[in-house]
Amino acid sequence: MGKVVILGVFVADTAYRAKRMPKMGETILGESFALGPGGKGSNQAVASGKMGAETHIITKLGDDDFAKMALATWDGADVTGHVDHVADSYTGAAYIFIEDGTGDNAIIISPGAAALISASDMDKAAELIRSADVFVTQLEQPMEAAVRALEIAKAAGVTTILNPAPAADLPDGILALCDYVTPNETETEELTGLSVTTVDEAEAACIRFRDMGVGCPIITLGERGVYLDGHGLVPAFNAGPVVETTGAGDAFNGGFAAALAGGATPLDAVKIGCATAGLSVTKAGTAPSMPTRAEVDALMAR
Ligand code: RIB
Ligand code: NA
Repeated sequence: MGKVVILGVFVADTAYRAKRMPKMGETILGESFALGPGGKGSNQAVASGKMGAETHIITKLGDDDFAKMALATWDGADVTGHVDHVADSYTGAAYIFIEDGTGDNAIIISPGAAALISASDMDKAAELIRSADVFVTQLEQPMEAAVRALEIAKAAGVTTILNPAPAADLPDGILALCDYVTPNETETEELTGLSVTTVDEAEAACIRFRDMGVGCPIITLGERGVYLDGHGLVPAFNAGPVVETTGAGDAFNGGFAAALAGGATPLDAVKIGCATAGLSVTKAGTAPSMPTRAEVDALMAR
């Protein structure tokens, strides 16, 4: 397998399951609570590491209990952390509301120390970024760091993936640094102005993304699967009853990146990403639900 380098955020996910969201000023009783490792970059690194790719994450943490959780999580997934511990900040956390019954979620993320990641930090990490087969980032840390890291990767001929999540206004030129972008339907709409409810609309959005400079757009369509530019719909895998969909996009990105780094074709890598995501939704939590390579292989051989 190849080498995947990820710039991104770790946070502790605090997941509250309740019948509905409280209204402003209201307190309601929840059904359950769970604490576990999360953050898009870290989740993607865990998925990639468990798939067997040599995986590195560049990030910032505090010097606290949640930082210990981050290090233990990466240890368990064969991920190497390249971490600045910022003693006067804190390791981030996410509030995740999960609606009982539908499983739909709403999230607030406070990145803490990871909000201090700068472009000059990426210059310091340039050697690591250049050594990757595949570089991946998202938009939970500051945009300027994502842009600088993508510039470094692209200039060195490293394959670049931007998972534009959460959706944000993108600076001019960033998409031309991306071999792949992997937005979901909402992010696609925010970035292209085109709504994506059908496969034809996904194709139209891909054309728009290419006009904006992206090499190969890939639009994730939830339970329907993934639209791969130049190919069409790659259907989702049904790996069993759905328990929690939070982090499914991260599972896709991590599985996809690991497979691509290992030399898979884009289509095969997308299928592996879909299998990774399909398995992740059958378990609770985000990072803790990422499957092993053996589980992915078994699902794909079925
Ligand atoms: O993509 C899912 C992740 O987004 C969660 O783990 C949560 O931390 C948020 O950042
Ligand atoms: Na899950």
